[in-house]
Amino acid sequence: MERRSFIKNTGLTAASLAIASSDIFAKPTAGDKVKTALIGTGLRGQSHLELLLKRDDVDVVAICDTDAKMLDMAKKIVSDSGKKMPQIFTGNVYAWKDLLSKTTLDGVVIATPWEWHAPMVLGSMDAGLKYIGCEVVMGITMEDHWNIVRAAEKYNANVMMLENVCYRRDVMAVLNMVRQELFGELLHLQGGYQHDLRGVELTNATGGVGAEFGPKAFSEAKWRTHHSVYRNGDLYPTHGIGPIANYININRGNRFLSLCSFSTKTRGLHNYIVKVGGENHPNAKVRFKLGDVVTTMIHCNNGETVFLQHDVNNPRPYSLGFRVQGTDGLWMDVSNTIYIEGKSKQNDEWDSADEWLTKYDHPLWAKYSNDAKGAGHGGMDFFVINAFIESIKRKAPTPLDVYDAATWSAITPLSEQSIDLGQQTVDFPDFTAGQWMYREPVFCLNDEY
Ligand SMILES: NC(=O)c1ccc[n+]([C@@H]2O[C@H](COP(=O)([O-])OP(=O)(O)OC[C@H]3O[C@@H](n4cnc5c(N)ncnc54)[C@H](O)[C@@H]3O)[C@@H](O)[C@H]2O)c1
Repeated sequence: MERRSFIKNTGLTAASLAIASSDIFAKPTAGDKVKTALIGTGLRGQSHLELLLKRDDVDVVAICDTDAKMLDMAKKIVSDSGKKMPQIFTGNVYAWKDLLSKTTLDGVVIATPWEWHAPMVLGSMDAGLKYIGCEVVMGITMEDHWNIVRAAEKYNANVMMLENVCYRRDVMAVLNMVRQELFGELLHLQGGYQHDLRGVELTNATGGVGAEFGPKAFSEAKWRTHHSVYRNGDLYPTHGIGPIANYININRGNRFLSLCSFSTKTRGLHNYIVKVGGENHPNAKVRFKLGDVVTTMIHCNNGETVFLQHDVNNPRPYSLGFRVQGTDGLWMDVSNTIYIEGKSKQNDEWDSADEWLTKYDHPLWAKYSNDAKGAGHGGMDFFVINAFIESIKRKAPTPLDVYDAATWSAITPLSEQSIDLGQQTVDFPDFTAGQWMYREPVFCLNDEY
């Protein structure tokens, strides 16, 4: 679809397009490559590293990790790419501070455990960086999120949470359909993180089947599982809420007003430990706090409801469980179906979503599908890194900003608070301080990124 007709069909206002045009259609600055560093070269960092090294417009000048094995894996990725070996920072958990003070960077990508994100994002801004790409989720506490928002405002820095699911091909085709009002006026949205992570949260030392977590384990089992021991809430909301927030323009004409969460009893991780490690395994004594299925309802200013689920510790096939429902019809990803009144093939019968998703394929996917081939998670990982780098090149705001990052990530501490209070409904803070009324949608509204 031509840009002109795409914009015409999005139903967005002239004001929003003026903003999008001035910010996003700026030409990239010619000349030097984007100097980037990567903090955290674990499994996710390595995937970002591969994508960054493939680009001709990026120099990866430094990498940092505390784990020799992960650094070795990253070094091999660099050697295989034929690119120059970046400067390596390691040795202690604050080596990233040396990286920030001793290198000249245009942007940094952070892919460390959740509890390190807020200190590293704040430290990067203190060091003068204007572009920070941080893996999901952004912080742990409400205070983390407020601190990051205030620092980004003070330093005029771009903090982009690298929420890749916003760029999933079907998610973006549905965004296209939402903007062309195929579903009518949106009413109710569902999503979540529904992924059996038992073999990720409990491993042996090399990542194989095992019942360990903490120092004896591998990758995320070294740290993620501790969150399941000590916390009860929706610990990973952003893959579900990111796309939903874009569909209903959260922080851009709409906002979350209140939230209420419920959790089930806790069985999955214990059962898995007994299954693979036996009843006498020391971890069989661990009492996990995280409920196996955490369900959250959010009420929005413009009258929509959002239903989110976190469900990672029991056997189940992967599905983010999206449902986008409006006054004229709905999409459901688990059944890959769409129904639109008066447009679907038969009254009251589902259409396979495939034809619709092909017809409304987002223009950015049509443009970049070759570049995205082979990139992680079906190609969407290319898009999120591409958006971060292209924003730096244009000195433009990132399409997902600090308010998105704070709002989406704050669901975790708010859901913990709600459950702690006996499923009370809690108010959702407005990180934009009223600006949500004036801010216009920008996500994927240009033909570059
Ligand atoms: N968006 C996605 O699809 C996706 C997929 C996987 C992981 N993630 C996110 O990416 C992040 C990293 O996850 P992962 O799977 O790579 O975990 P990982 O455990 O494999 O990697 C984390 C790395 O950070 C390093 N690290 C820890 N503390 C550090 C410190 N103080 N300084 C420097 N390095 C430090 C660890 O040694 C490890 O190598 C998490 O936020 C996770 O939720 C996102």
